[in-house]
Amino acid sequence: MTRLIIRIAAVCLALGVAVAAAFSGARWVTRTAVEVPDHTASAEAGAYLFAAAGCATCHTAEGRDATPLAGGRELATPFGTFYGPNITPHAEHGIGSWSDADFIRALRQGVAPDGRDYYPAFPYASYTRLSDADLLDLKAYLFSLPAAAEPNRAHDLPFPFGFRPLLTFWKLLYLEEGPMAPEPGRSEMENRGAYLVQAAGHCGECHSPRNALGAPIGDMALAGTEEGPEGRAIPNITPHRETGIGRWSADDIVFLLRAGMLPDGDFVGGGMGEVVSENTSHLTEDDLRAIAAYLQMMPAVENAVGASDDEDDETSRSDDDW
Ligand code: HEC
Ligand code: HEC
Repeated sequence: MTRLIIRIAAVCLALGVAVAAAFSGARWVTRTAVEVPDHTASAEAGAYLFAAAGCATCHTAEGRDATPLAGGRELATPFGTFYGPNITPHAEHGIGSWSDADFIRALRQGVAPDGRDYYPAFPYASYTRLSDADLLDLKAYLFSLPAAAEPNRAHDLPFPFGFRPLLTFWKLLYLEEGPMAPEPGRSEMENRGAYLVQAAGHCGECHSPRNALGAPIGDMALAGTEEGPEGRAIPNITPHRETGIGRWSADDIVFLLRAGMLPDGDFVGGGMGEVVSENTSHLTEDDLRAIAAYLQMMPAVENAVGASDDEDDETSRSDDDW
């Protein structure tokens, strides 16, 4: 049922975009010129950011012998199956021919060098908040890695989601272009935490519930969802005492992000296991403390997720998510 509604909404959007484009006679992509700031890029700083942003997972196929970042990872979503592309510096199959401006535009605006809009399965709606300097360091790091000649695999998206011009409309509605600025009322540590959670760590891509068009619901940030990536329940990580992590200490949060162990001694699984191994376990103690400080200052949102874990999977799933 939810999917049917999503499809109907998407078809309406497609028609809207087509009509708007026909009337304007313009190209449909909205994009502004990208200015490349003066910055001496550091591959070493980029390596740290690469971990903080968890770029490895979606761009590396599963299996031990997969070539890092050569693409092919299958990403199942309610909109179809995406395959992470090759982002090694291979000139033909990767991003080896990209300029700095191309790279900034892709992560900040979700636009490819040839003008195509990217799907938000590539979490640029989060990465748009990264600073220019961090983006340039990230590119320097990627370009320091070996190139792999792995061709990209086309996404497998049912009608109408395969129609990329829909994305222009999605972006007009939902993409709030960065970079993000520090908030004056917050300590330096809280601002650093906000940057790590919202921009780099893209925690909300999994932990925030989404509307039918796949956009996060603003006042529910990090409040968990019954149907996250791969259809599984994702816990509420706001400081709500009953339904979130309000009873956790800062040490509990830091320990989980470093070692993957919950306060009750269990290890996290699902996507979070990979977030810990590829991303948060590489962060400095200061950065983990900053994430904990920011999570603890978020508004507590009451949202019980996965309460009916023991029941049959189908009956426990809410039909209203996504
Ligand atoms: C949640 C999965 C996911 C994560 C995490 C992710 N990506 Fe991607 N990325 C994708 C998908 C899916 C696409 C393809 C989007 C499309 O085709 O519209 C993509 C596309 C790209 C592209 C464009 C490639 C091309 O050939 O046009 C670049 C560059 C890129 N990602 C870099 C990054 C970097 C750098 C990071 C970390 C900061 C990152 N990605 C993290 C899923 C992800
Ligand atoms: C790819 C999806 C994904 C991303 C991205 C992600 N998480 Fe998670 N997270 C999960 C899942 C799934 C679980 C539940 C794991 C389990 O219970 O085995 C989880 C669990 C947690 C928990 C434990 C909550 C509890 O009540 O047990 C915390 C804390 C947490 N994540 C914090 C974060 C932070 C901070 C980030 C960003 C740095 C983040 N997560 C990014 C998927 C994700």
